[in-house]
Amino acid sequence: MNVGERHYRTIWLSDDKRSVEIIDQRWLPHEFRIEKIGTVAGIATAIRDMWVRGAPLIGVTAAYGVAIQMTEDASDEALDAVWETLHKTRPTAINLRWALDEMRRHLKPLAPERRAEAAYRRAAEIADEDVGLNRAIGENGLAIIKEIAAKKPGETVNILTHCNAGWLATVDYGTATAPIYLATEAGIPVHVYVDETRPRNQGAQLTAWEMAGHGVPHTLIVDNAGGHLMQHGDIDMVIVGTDRTTANGDVCNKIGTYLKALAAADNDVPFYVALPSPTIDWTVADGLAEIPIEERASDEVSLVWGRTADGKIAQVRVSPDATPAANPAFDVTPARLVTGLITERGVAKASREGLKAMFPERG
Ligand code: MRU
Repeated sequence: MNVGERHYRTIWLSDDKRSVEIIDQRWLPHEFRIEKIGTVAGIATAIRDMWVRGAPLIGVTAAYGVAIQMTEDASDEALDAVWETLHKTRPTAINLRWALDEMRRHLKPLAPERRAEAAYRRAAEIADEDVGLNRAIGENGLAIIKEIAAKKPGETVNILTHCNAGWLATVDYGTATAPIYLATEAGIPVHVYVDETRPRNQGAQLTAWEMAGHGVPHTLIVDNAGGHLMQHGDIDMVIVGTDRTTANGDVCNKIGTYLKALAAADNDVPFYVALPSPTIDWTVADGLAEIPIEERASDEVSLVWGRTADGKIAQVRVSPDATPAANPAFDVTPARLVTGLITERGVAKASREGLKAMFPERG
């Protein structure tokens, strides 16, 4: 998507054809910084410390990490070791494992001297595929927005979203935001309620920045406001992303998603989840029992980042020094609370049957 007049993806191959460049998301919305990364250790840090984040982008970044490794040592042992190193960086988003598996599956049959070139080619393809998948998700989600718009002619469609499942979380377009961008392009009046998404504020910092950058009318709300707005008829639909959706349609996403789904169900607000097929974990059925939930540093809860009045980016403490904090980063929304899964192939029911019908080759 554009930043100012210029089109950016979130990750691209550097001019040296070996390193990658990324938008360093830790500084948004206050500063737009680009980092060049040319080592596997650098890639691991960028994923773990959330310079890049969002399930699809984590996967693509890891794919380039494998490619960088192949320029140094392309042996089977090195391929397995880079898989392990990068897989450990963030445990919940399944796109990470998907991309690492895909790279290893593609490279293993090749002679080591051919692996580096093949790895960069495959990583670039995975990045391009992500853009195509998101564009298709956008079209399928747009049809839903159009249906809602048709029921309230001349009025605005109000959409609530949680966290950032926007273009910053993918290579381009985003998942939850793709239908929103296409609706805006199509001239459908939409307005987005952006959950701030504590503790790291991906909504306040990233989704709000995206919406502002693309002229999408939006309002930032605290995480606790969604239920109240739904009770008052202010939300027409919820669209969120997901880090891992099980074969049964249980949806793991940023902490707080489950509460939004409960409020949506209680108020008959449709609750949609936008996802590309690499986010489906076909090996897992019961999301609550089987998905590892990342526990992040307690400092993310006790301290918040922001820009001070004199323009500095700084951290402040919001709780007493002695108060411990817990920081589970994701939760699981049971399939029964999900109205539909917006995939690249169409909108699936959040159930084993629904997903099988959409992806018969996986059944
Ligand atoms: O911890 P993050 O910022 O990586 O979490 C991101 C999310 O929860 C997104 O909603 C999810 O990855 C879907 S991104 C298209």
